[in-house]
Amino acid sequence: MSSLLKIENLHVNVGETEILKGVNLEMKQGETHALMGPNGSGKSTLAYTLVGHPKYEITQGTVSIDGTDLADLDPSERARLGLFLAFQYPVTIPGVKVADFLRHAMTNVRNPDRKEGEELMPMREFRTELRETMKELNIDAEFARRYLNDGFSGGEKKRMEILQLALLKPRFAILDETDSGLDSDAVRVVSEGLAKLSGEHMGTLIITHHERLLEYNIPQYTHVMLAGRIVETGDAALAHELHEQGYAGVRERHPEEAAEEEAARHEEATTV
Ligand SMILES: Nc1ncnc2c1ncn2[C@@H]1O[C@H](COP(=O)(O)OP(=O)(O)O)[C@@H](O)[C@H]1O
Ligand SMILES: [Mg+2]
Repeated sequence: MSSLLKIENLHVNVGETEILKGVNLEMKQGETHALMGPNGSGKSTLAYTLVGHPKYEITQGTVSIDGTDLADLDPSERARLGLFLAFQYPVTIPGVKVADFLRHAMTNVRNPDRKEGEELMPMREFRTELRETMKELNIDAEFARRYLNDGFSGGEKKRMEILQLALLKPRFAILDETDSGLDSDAVRVVSEGLAKLSGEHMGTLIITHHERLLEYNIPQYTHVMLAGRIVETGDAALAHELHEQGYAGVRERHPEEAAEEEAARHEEATTV
């Protein structure tokens, strides 16, 4: 049976401010969805809420995987249920090597009953799998000995992301790719890597405007977010249209949300 990620009437606050105002979205394992929308419309907020970032408070609605409500689960429990988020700004962890990090993450995801401090997956098994996966993805073996994200280029950060996806094999991957700051090498790494990895076992939500990413990974569904709601859902043609024409048309078709967006922008400008 293919798994289902279900977001129903999701309202999320950051502090006092309501950012998501009733988001509905369903994604099955094996599907590719694109999430687009102007800056500040709430795309990253949705991604952070899905993985359980403590700053994002669900005030109404639910997020579930196969009927299991995610609200009470911490991020590592969510990972065990098969959820993966590639962070827009990955953290640097001094003193932790790529390989150590991956061995911990793989152990956590594969052995749900493991308690903190208990054995990691066997080194031999881990090494073999790591070596084979890196070879398949054309990642240099030396990469595993680097310190995590320390001095990584954009492309290297994306290699790390793709390597994690390949090893953790999540049922649902959410990739929040800012459209600023991704150089062309990084876009290529993530585009090709994702295309290689996606298949019937993985549902992928790609947050981006990058034409290239969406050309390599053609979405079955494109969702457009405006002022904290998904106002339109279409197919790959919609992604293409937005890329060509921007959001003026979307705002015209949804004047109420466009007005809310304008009001929020004004508020932000006057409180800064
Ligand atoms: N951690 C946060 N603290 C304060 N405001 C936030 C935070 N996260 C998001 N916001 C606000 O929520 C709105 C949506 O932001 P975001 O989800 O980052 O949009 P997008 O990813 O679509 O550009 C913006 O107005 C932003 O200022
Ligand atoms: Mg964002």
